[in-house]
Amino acid sequence: MQYRSVQRMSRTVFRSTLTTLLLLPLYALATGPLSEQRLSEQRKGEIGQIVQQDCGSCHGLTLKGGLGPNLDPARLAQYPNGFLKATILHGRPGTPMPPWGPLLSADEIHYIATQLRSGVWYVP
Ligand code: HEC
Repeated sequence: MQYRSVQRMSRTVFRSTLTTLLLLPLYALATGPLSEQRLSEQRKGEIGQIVQQDCGSCHGLTLKGGLGPNLDPARLAQYPNGFLKATILHGRPGTPMPPWGPLLSADEIHYIATQLRSGVWYVP
């Protein structure tokens, strides 16, 4: 094969891989099937601790707010699901809210969003 066509081919492969990588999280968030049923009870417990300790370091141990705003389910109800999950997945660039995509799976982020909405971790 000629050098040029190999170069063109690898560029195409690179571009489609990049597109897939960029679109995958969006696809997962938009279409699912996301399910906390795939998470073990042990993992759910660990996530509860992550939320209390890591998220809690900014949002307050009981999620009543601190450096980050309170995560009061009544207030979160104003946001569409996708927006809530995108905030956790990507963080809020330009603010201290970090992206959790590198640490948590789409199912785990879905679980956190569902739990935040239900208010089980929120102590008013
Ligand atoms: C280093 C501090 C920090 C940590 C850790 C952190 N957050 Fe945040 N978070 C923020 C800040 C600051 C904002 C507000 C960003 C803005 O100004 O829009 C925010 C915003 C949010 C929002 C949107 C709230 C709203 O009303 O717009 C959600 C939801 C959220 N965080 C969830 C989480 C979750 C879940 C975790 C843990 C997995 C977490 N955050 C960890 C600082 C943090």
